[in-house]
Amino acid sequence: MSLYRTRVAGTGSYLPPDLITNKDLEKLVDTNDEWIRERTGISERHRALPNQATSDLAYEASLLAIKDANLEPKDIDCIIVGTVTGDYQTPSTSCVLQAKLGLNGIPAMDVGAACSGFIYILSMADAYIRMGMYKNILIVGAEVTTRFVNYKDRETCILFGDGAGAWVVSRTDTQAKDVVYSSHLRAEGSLGDLFIRPSGGSKRPFSQEVLDDNSYWFTMKGREIYKNAVRTMSATCQEALEFNKMNSSHIDWLVPHQANWRIMEAVANHFDFPKEKVISIVDQMGNTSAATIPVAFDFARKDGRIKRGQTILLTAFGAGLTAGSAVLQF
Ligand code: UT7
Repeated sequence: MSLYRTRVAGTGSYLPPDLITNKDLEKLVDTNDEWIRERTGISERHRALPNQATSDLAYEASLLAIKDANLEPKDIDCIIVGTVTGDYQTPSTSCVLQAKLGLNGIPAMDVGAACSGFIYILSMADAYIRMGMYKNILIVGAEVTTRFVNYKDRETCILFGDGAGAWVVSRTDTQAKDVVYSSHLRAEGSLGDLFIRPSGGSKRPFSQEVLDDNSYWFTMKGREIYKNAVRTMSATCQEALEFNKMNSSHIDWLVPHQANWRIMEAVANHFDFPKEKVISIVDQMGNTSAATIPVAFDFARKDGRIKRGQTILLTAFGAGLTAGSAVLQF
């Protein structure tokens, strides 16, 4: 029996000012604007300034989310960051963020579920709140992917960008309607090789050899990832709808992980969901991994599409391979 339920009290997002356009990429690799837009829907991505690390992006998004929740940083009692491009291997980016927010003492942890990171951390925060452990949890998806992208590999460098999105999720009572209804998570570790940064960890530590053979960067089998993404996101959406005894007509907005417009479209088609109700800002952001869902959500709120009281379905997939979905009333 849950003691409490979880509501989304505030949202915020931050995209750094520097842009990488398709025209910029034409100068680096054998590609062109038309191919990138047709195959992915992406026109531009944001890139962190040289003096910005992942925690800096997370900090900006967090301040906005805390303000939006009508809270002060001191009201936050736990921080969870989803990232695979943290400031350091150790300490965690959540600890760096905690110090920047002046919140020494409260728990802070990172979760490395790649592009599914935000659904994973939302699910964890929801469980903590339902158990009564914390009242106001700051959850942040934040990535500086561009520091780990090989700008000589045309298949990957066209996809990724930097950004951060934050939510404050807060304790509410069990009778409330504007709550997180469900989350479903999955992972298929046997498919880990499909998207991997092979070196720089304990398996193959950083060395001159690693630099020379380019294994420090993200490597990807794009086609296979594409097929798995459509399969797993469709399956987790189906799972979420069945669990909540809903069908697509109960959902006001689908906010999927923003990796490629064609993937989002295929997932929507899978359960006859109208494309006009799919939130996509992939054209202006590219794939910011764990940040895509909270950033897209925040943009859609600010442009007036997502409103309080609406029912939202989130779905994501990512390296691992990981995947998940969540349903909430905002
Ligand atoms: O969190 C995980 C992140 N990764 C993803 O989400 C990736 C998911 N996958 C995708 O989004 C797509 O598979 C890509 C955008 C990566 C590729 O699109 P595709 O429609 O699956 O193309 P493809 O891999 O089947 O390649 C078609 C052609 C190939 O040439 P040939 O063999 O037909 O001559 C590629 O070499 O397009 C070529 N190609 C490119 N051409 C111009 C691959 N990348 C590019 C490029 N510009 N950037």
